[in-house]
Amino acid sequence: MNNAFEPIETASRDEITALQLSRLKHSLSHAYGNVPHYKAAFASAGVHPDDLKSLADLAKFPFTTKQDLRANYPYRMFAVPMGKVARIHASSGTTGKPTVVGYTQNDIDTWAKLMARSIFAAGGRPGDKVHVSYGYGLFTGGLGAHYGAERLGCTVIPFGGGQTERQVQLIQDFQPDIIMVTPSYVLAIADEFERQGIDATKCSLKLGIHGAEPWTNEMRGEIERRFGMQAVDIYGLSEVMGPGVAQECIETKDGPVIWEDHFYPEIINPETGEVLPDGEMGELVFTSLTKEALPIIRYRTRDLTRLLPPTARSMRRIAKITGRTDDMLIIRGVNVFPSQVEEQILKMPRLSPHYLLEVSREGHMDAMVVNVEIKPEFATATAAEKEFVAHELQHHIKSYIGINTRVDIKAVGDIERSIGKAKRVIDRRPK
Ligand code: DLL
Repeated sequence: MNNAFEPIETASRDEITALQLSRLKHSLSHAYGNVPHYKAAFASAGVHPDDLKSLADLAKFPFTTKQDLRANYPYRMFAVPMGKVARIHASSGTTGKPTVVGYTQNDIDTWAKLMARSIFAAGGRPGDKVHVSYGYGLFTGGLGAHYGAERLGCTVIPFGGGQTERQVQLIQDFQPDIIMVTPSYVLAIADEFERQGIDATKCSLKLGIHGAEPWTNEMRGEIERRFGMQAVDIYGLSEVMGPGVAQECIETKDGPVIWEDHFYPEIINPETGEVLPDGEMGELVFTSLTKEALPIIRYRTRDLTRLLPPTARSMRRIAKITGRTDDMLIIRGVNVFPSQVEEQILKMPRLSPHYLLEVSREGHMDAMVVNVEIKPEFATATAAEKEFVAHELQHHIKSYIGINTRVDIKAVGDIERSIGKAKRVIDRRPK
């Protein structure tokens, strides 16, 4: 426990909960006093910030949803005058208006510090060179990583997403120690190394800090093997801050540690809203404890996970995110997350981590096709060999997940690569 960037990371639980309670009181009053939405929402739930006497009292307060942010587009959730807002980010969202978030200079400062803390927990140290391939711009990934790496005292290479050929060239030339990028895109970079005939395990990278989308431990194994580096999980969302809400520690690699001195987590039953005890699976909810421009109270992330006890730090962890309430597929009544299919794909030595699930309705029945690329080293497999692999995967999916699928083995490069978050599902069923 002597590996922390800041003393609070290894403080006693009593000290942490006392800090949470005093910060939570302040955060509720700040939201209530400065954001009309919160004043109205608290009033209609019949609560007032003064009603919070213990952390458990938070359960009396109303949830905030993405819909609330959309309804108050663009700036009506801000709790400070525009003159105090130093930066704006937004998450695109596939439909409708983007979700807009704002930061005061203090917020930017806290975020940089928490990202520095995160990179340190991941194993990064001052003096390391950090290649950032998260997108720059309105997405929080690029700038979040950038400010944190600078704050830690690293040398930043602000590449951003895309131009995969050049990413490889600059990794070769600039010799970074760390890469910060989505797990799906780092695998596209691995493929590009291979295409150029360069052995990625010999490159300078020692550590990958990956997040922004769900990924399995099987995917971690694949990334570590392809680059001969360590790969750790970083979690965050723009509504709560951006990357660095939680970070997995290199010494345990057992799920991201929530920086509980700044974000108060709860797990709820997504159907009833009831708070669940630690250890139970449900929807992750966050309340910000220190944010100025956009205090967020009981924000429903839609991410499904469990709260786990502290290990490498004194703060609780989240289990790897299984998926989101909104990307859970129901196939003939069976609940399926793309990550469960990914897990089965990556158990097969001849299949690559590039896949796309296509769901449709044939008559009254749901049908799912698993499109997955063969690995380049098996590209010359015969049709019969491919059929054998397809049958094997089909069988594993049936026995582990319980659904019938058709598996279509694709040639190398047939599945479109993302340069940020990967698209894993096309659902063609009528709504
Ligand atoms: O993705 C922030 C981020 C950037 C996190 C870079 C990590 C690294 P949003 O675009 O608002 O923000 O998307 C947030 O992405 O609610 C999760 O569903 C998903 N997500 C983020 N990190 C992870 C992770 C950024 N480590 C949404 N594992 C979240 C699984 C993740 N899902």
